Amino acid sequence: MANKIHIGLSLLSSDFFNIKDTIQKVNKSPLDFIHLDIMDGVFVPNISFGSHFIKCLRPHTNKVFDVHLMLQNPYNYIRDFANAGADIITIHHEAKNAIRSLKLIKSLGLKCGIAINPETSASRIKKYLDIVDTVMVMTVHPGFGGQKFISSQLDTIAQISKLISSPNSKTIRLQVDGGINFDTAKLAIQSGANSIVSGSFLLTQSNFATAINKLKKL
Ligand code: DX5
Ligand code: ZN
Repeated sequence: MANKIHIGLSLLSSDFFNIKDTIQKVNKSPLDFIHLDIMDGVFVPNISFGSHFIKCLRPHTNKVFDVHLMLQNPYNYIRDFANAGADIITIHHEAKNAIRSLKLIKSLGLKCGIAINPETSASRIKKYLDIVDTVMVMTVHPGFGGQKFISSQLDTIAQISKLISSPNSKTIRLQVDGGINFDTAKLAIQSGANSIVSGSFLLTQSNFATAINKLKKL
């Protein structure tokens, strides 16, 4: 299992008018990836942005683009997000055609991830382990930034950590998304997470690089 902690910034709660400043800060920081939350108003009760936004950002940063599709029908949009510059595309177990969608992502030469909602049990990810590069545990109900971390998900993280860390298994990242701050990140890492997404907390830190370095060393 990969031990180095990766940190990603969710742009969901950022000031889109000043996105240039945010990207410039990101480029000067040790951030590992930018997490892009795509919502269709069906799979989750909110709408965010689409592939055009990602395409506009792509020429301005070399950071990995980790696209989180909160879509009922991800399959229909995967090519658009691949063309826009995604490096990793994560879809939900609870969405339609999950396996078919993951195969399409891989066939386009990208990394893929499977996300599970808080009400989904850890064992559900077993059927995806042959194909995925990342398993992402939602630590809030998807749809909005700035929510409170659901502590009972620590158990799910620990169970998945065991499932993916058998000696002969390939390296799969264990990512957490939602309600992350220094305290909750520490708990998630102690439970086995090695990839951390933070949105509203990281965006409000006065020294971005210092906060990222602190998260990496928890
Ligand atoms: C929730 C999103 C998350 C979330 C992260 O639906 O997938 O990426 O916005 O933001 P914070 O850190 O504010 O919970
Ligand atoms: Zn997300």
